[in-house]
Parts: sequence; structure tokens; C-alpha cells
Amino acid sequence: MSVTIEAKNLIKEFGGFKAVDGVNLSVNQGEVYGFLGPNGAGKTTTIRMLTGTLKPTGGEIKVLGLDLKKHELEIKRRIGVVPDEPRIYSNLKGFEFLDFVIEIYRVDRKKTKERIDELCDVFGVNYLEKTISDMSHGMKQKLYLVSVLMRKPEILFLDEPTVGLDAKSAKILKMLLQKYSSEGSTVFMTTHVLEIAEKMCTRIGIINKGRLIAEGTLLELKNAANKTQASLEDIFLQLTADGEDIEAVIKEL
Ligand SMILES: Nc1ncnc2c1ncn2[C@@H]1O[C@H](COP(=O)(O)OP(=O)(O)O)[C@@H](O)[C@H]1O
Ligand SMILES: [Mg+2]
Repeated sequence: MSVTIEAKNLIKEFGGFKAVDGVNLSVNQGEVYGFLGPNGAGKTTTIRMLTGTLKPTGGEIKVLGLDLKKHELEIKRRIGVVPDEPRIYSNLKGFEFLDFVIEIYRVDRKKTKERIDELCDVFGVNYLEKTISDMSHGMKQKLYLVSVLMRKPEILFLDEPTVGLDAKSAKILKMLLQKYSSEGSTVFMTTHVLEIAEKMCTRIGIINKGRLIAEGTLLELKNAANKTQASLEDIFLQLTADGEDIEAVIKEL
């Protein structure tokens, strides 16, 4: 199993403040990796560094076996990124935006059109004639998902992908991500919602205050916490509890 995302001692400082503080990550091909943590933990900052949109203060990143510093363009062509707030050209119509993405990524137009039809069908995107500025947040998000999934990227990075999606779309996304990973692609997603990590991810890393404080499969996390009856929520709350001695909790793991 090859490692497709690797970060070593990743650091991001804003002013003197360390938003990401020495994170090490190793994600294998085909995994659905959940990067879980409370608000402000450093999830978005980490994913932005991993995808080349934010320069780290320190540390090394390899994506698809390539050094991100040296092969940024190739990596960006081969991965797909769904940011928490996609910036999407609001004066275009839906289909114009998809055409634009096909152009810039130079993907096979005919094959991609077929995938667009399938994806629009499953997500209920029947509004490609609408101008983007007239779409709701959820509608834009689904359009953006189509624009990324249609390219079949080798790794998919998603920042809080289910925020703004209705229950049905969230379920469809979950099924698509599972299918996608079963076909050998890798998924790296952030979430602050425990249930989502619990339901969707094969492995979970918990980040708090810029540090990765626990990692493993749900079962491993539970076993390590020696609380087989505990839900991930218990573990998560325990690990990220403010005012509690997190070090002591971790020692127990
Ligand atoms: N551009 C920025 N300038 C200053 N501080 C930032 C910036 N981006 C994020 N931060 C801070 O870094 C911390 C982590 O933020 P973020 O990665 O967005 O958290 P999360 O996505 O886990 O909710 C927060 O304290 C946030 O205020
Ligand atoms: Mg975030």
C-alpha cells in the first residue's frame, strides 16, 4: 500500500501564533482519512498547506510521492480540492463553469461529459443553466463537487464537505466517496462532526490546538482509550476538553 499523503513536522505560524504545531501525517492510497477536531483546531490550515494554497512555516509535504515544493503544478493537476468556501466565478452559468474546468485541467471532454451527466443525476444538479450568483450555498457546493469529481482526481481533499448539504446529498456524497476509495483513490477530509468521521472514514486523526493528539481506526481509538463501550464522541470530548489535562488523557491511550 503506497503512501499518498505525507507530512513531516508541519508547522504554520500566524504572527507568533502556531495554528499548526508539528503535525505528522501518513495516509495510504485508498484510505478515507478523517481529520477531526473542534473549531479552530487547525484543520483548514493543514489542508490548505497539503494542497499547496498556503505556504508552511516549516516541515515537509509529499503528495503522490512528490515533494510539494518542487512539483506543485503536477500535484495540483492530479488532485482535487473542495475548500470549505469554494471560490467560484459567480457571473458564469453552471455549465460554463464546468466547461472552464475542463479547459484548464485539459481533461478528456467526451469522457468527462458522461461523468458530468452521471454526477448531476445523482446529486440532483438540474440547474446548470442558472447563473452561479443565483444559486444557494448548497447548490454551489454540489456544482463544485461535480466539477472536482468529474476529473477523477487521484486524491480528493475535502474541507468540511457536508456543511451546507442536505441529508440526502450528504448521504450520496458518502456513498460516492466510498466507491471512489474502493477504486483506489484516496480521500482526505476534515470535519468537526464526529458522526461524519465515524460513518465515513477508515482512519481518523484528531487534531486539537494545532497538534495531532490521537490517530487510528475507530476501533483502535476506542481500544486505545480502553473504553470499548465509549463512542468516538466520548473519546473526542475527553481528548479535546478545555481545562482538562489532555496530556494525562493521552498517556492513558
Ligand atoms: N490567515 C490567518 N491569519 C491568522 N490566524 C489564522 C489565519 N487562518 C487561521 N488562523 C487561526 O488559526 C487557527 C486554526 O484555524 P483553522 O485552521 O481555520 O481551524 P479549523 O479549520 O480547525 O476550524 C485559528 O485560531 C484561526 O483563528
Ligand atoms: Mg476549518
